[in-house]
Amino acid sequence: MALRHQEIIQKLSIDEKCYLLSGKDFWSTYSVLAKGVPSINLSDGPHGIRKQEGVGDQLGLGGSLPATCFPTAATIANSWDPALGEMIGECLGEEAASQDVAVLLGPGLNIKRSPLCGRNFEYFSEDPYLAGKMAAGYIRGIQKNGVSACPKHFAANNTELRRQASNSVMDERTLREIYLTGFEIAVREAAPRSTMSSYNEINGVYANENEHLLQEILRDQWGFDGFVVSDWGAGNDFVEGVRAGSHLEMPTTGGDSAEQLIAAVKAGRISEELVDRRVDELLDVVFSTHEAMERARGSSFDIEAHHQMAMRASAESVVLLKNEENILPLAPGTRVAVIGDFAQTPRYQGAGSSVVNPTKLDNTMDVIGSFPLEVVGFEKGYPRVGAGDPAMQNAAVDLAKKADIVLLYLGLDEISESEGLDRAHMKMPQSQIDLLKAVSAANSNVVIVMSAGSAVEMPWLDQCKAMVHGYLCGQAGAAAVLQVITGQVNPSGKLSESYPLSYDDVSSKPYFPAVQRSVEYREGLYVGYRYFETAKKPVLFPFGFGMSYTTFAYTDLEADSKKVSFTLTNTGDTDGAEVAQLYVSAKAPKVYRPAKELKGFAKVFLKAGESKRVTIELDDKAFRYFNTKTDKFEIDGGEYDLLVGASVADIKLSATVNVAGTDAPLPYELSDIPSYAKGDILKVSDEEFSKLLEGPIPDGSWSGTLRMNDAICQLYYAKSFKARTVYKIMTGMLNKSIAKGTPDLNIIFVYNMPFRAIGKMAGGMVSQDMCKSILKIVNGHAGGFIAGLGGLISGYLKQSKIAKKAKEMK
Ligand code: BGC
Repeated sequence: MALRHQEIIQKLSIDEKCYLLSGKDFWSTYSVLAKGVPSINLSDGPHGIRKQEGVGDQLGLGGSLPATCFPTAATIANSWDPALGEMIGECLGEEAASQDVAVLLGPGLNIKRSPLCGRNFEYFSEDPYLAGKMAAGYIRGIQKNGVSACPKHFAANNTELRRQASNSVMDERTLREIYLTGFEIAVREAAPRSTMSSYNEINGVYANENEHLLQEILRDQWGFDGFVVSDWGAGNDFVEGVRAGSHLEMPTTGGDSAEQLIAAVKAGRISEELVDRRVDELLDVVFSTHEAMERARGSSFDIEAHHQMAMRASAESVVLLKNEENILPLAPGTRVAVIGDFAQTPRYQGAGSSVVNPTKLDNTMDVIGSFPLEVVGFEKGYPRVGAGDPAMQNAAVDLAKKADIVLLYLGLDEISESEGLDRAHMKMPQSQIDLLKAVSAANSNVVIVMSAGSAVEMPWLDQCKAMVHGYLCGQAGAAAVLQVITGQVNPSGKLSESYPLSYDDVSSKPYFPAVQRSVEYREGLYVGYRYFETAKKPVLFPFGFGMSYTTFAYTDLEADSKKVSFTLTNTGDTDGAEVAQLYVSAKAPKVYRPAKELKGFAKVFLKAGESKRVTIELDDKAFRYFNTKTDKFEIDGGEYDLLVGASVADIKLSATVNVAGTDAPLPYELSDIPSYAKGDILKVSDEEFSKLLEGPIPDGSWSGTLRMNDAICQLYYAKSFKARTVYKIMTGMLNKSIAKGTPDLNIIFVYNMPFRAIGKMAGGMVSQDMCKSILKIVNGHAGGFIAGLGGLISGYLKQSKIAKKAKEMK
């Protein structure tokens, strides 16, 4: 295959080419200026720019330049509006370009397999169709002015626990239909110029060196033509990564990786032609984004306009979950008591690499004065972290008695939702539940305003009359929520994830978190509503649910296998938007299938009394399933119900269509996998899971001897006493930071890292050889300490020389 940048590549030395494929520092790529190759910068992402000044700190988590903090993906997904995602993306692209960020590391579109994943706030949905459509919107927007988006984390990265040392074990059909379809939509519909490979292994192969994912699926089947960057520290065997289809290892390893690749080329382990191809694919994006950076040089962005955009985005994503006696919207002049720490110190984004340093930050108490409400006072009500405080609670109760309505601001605290840390349960802090009980006893007109980036259990919901969920609403969200409360905005958000009655009902619960190395996806396709609907398990709020101040009627359905059309009427007296959803349900499937699957949606704005004819097209994903016998998507012919509804559980119209099949041989007999056929998957036996996997279940147990890809938190079984002491100290530090309520990201990250990542994340100070020597010491075999120490010293001397060369490469 001819190279697009042949002329330049032929001038580059093998050293230059190999260095180009790994980072220069924490955030930028190498350049070879004399031969026409510039360097570009990459930065997080996803809901605002996190450009670190200088080279960045060790883990890249320190402060960053001010940028607009938009609501997180979990919030915007509730708008069900890819066009809104595109508008946000445009602002993000503009801000990125103004800060010389060529590649924006986002959006994140991993599937919310478990409500406990610590990073769910950064992801769109439990449903791949919705996640893919929203991500495509963001990507189109970000790339409008030449910046590259970088959808992440590809793929099957659905837990934070030991994320760099875990193996996602699942059958191919589940991988394709649930965990890859969102990426497929994003790639095919929005053509991102880069993609980030995830930390984990998929069926025993690290994502960053997984040829099946990176070459066969991403490039060959979906037509991706950008570059793949490893998640930070996700590199394992650099040479294998390059071979499989990865183009850039981040952050820098100070030349260690590049030298491995140079040696591999010299030894004939990998061909120079393949290295050339990877460089060519990378340079294509380097050149185009660099050009965009040159065009944008010296540009700035309109801070106020972007703040307003963040507010609008938040307002369009607020979900009204309860509104008894139509207590909302509040009439002008209503006397309100504002209670809750979140009204003063908002929780507007999650913790981790996505943290944005906002250009400005609204809080409820500062903005409520501009709304037509009479505020009778404010009380914090509860301490942000830890046990409740009787004095604070009593003051809140006294205040509640003086008002018509209590606006009670509740939510998850900072430690509950962080990259690197999964939640232990789905409960709200007890101090807040106690406060709610006390306040509602004093004043029954309680309106809860929620701030949380993922689903929580709400056994206390009967103690409020209304609930407005703002999720993590970004820097301007405080006013957006008040716009909804006062009726300036009619809420139109709908949940992009299910709210179970209890965590016990969740399909992945028996298999989450992983016990040792393997994360077994035994629930298969039954994620979120796919499970609840099939198993007929009642939920608190179904997927797709959200209320409005008006009402809508669905009538006159016409359907065929290509599209559905129906009439939507705003039957109330308030203008508003409705998210109409289309689900597909196979009547007599010959392969196992969830009862309902989202295959289309439309957000329609209607004036009071107005009607519109709405058409939702059915695309190539509507009836397909992945067949492992033919190794491609097939169609199981037969009758399908097309269900149009206001949520997955509120179907308004239905029609049955006949769909022609592709007559492929069936991958299995349904009788071989009875639990899956019934949707009864909470206790899938080894035998049945192995049938689904079409092979043995990998042994994920730890051996007792620590290896390069074991996590540092496994030091508790290290042979060396000193290493076990390190484990104890680290665990103590971690628990202390959790108790304080503020995630200490450095500890969390290091705790979950495998030993090889010490090298990958040390900015070039520690080579892989040195990591191996550390392991010898830790494992404490006879003579291990001496051999390890010797190895460390010689490794250090060797790496110092390499790092010097790496510095000279620029
Ligand atoms: C995260 C990525 C992020 C990268 C750079 C990693 O720890 O998983 O999402 O883009 O760091 O900050």
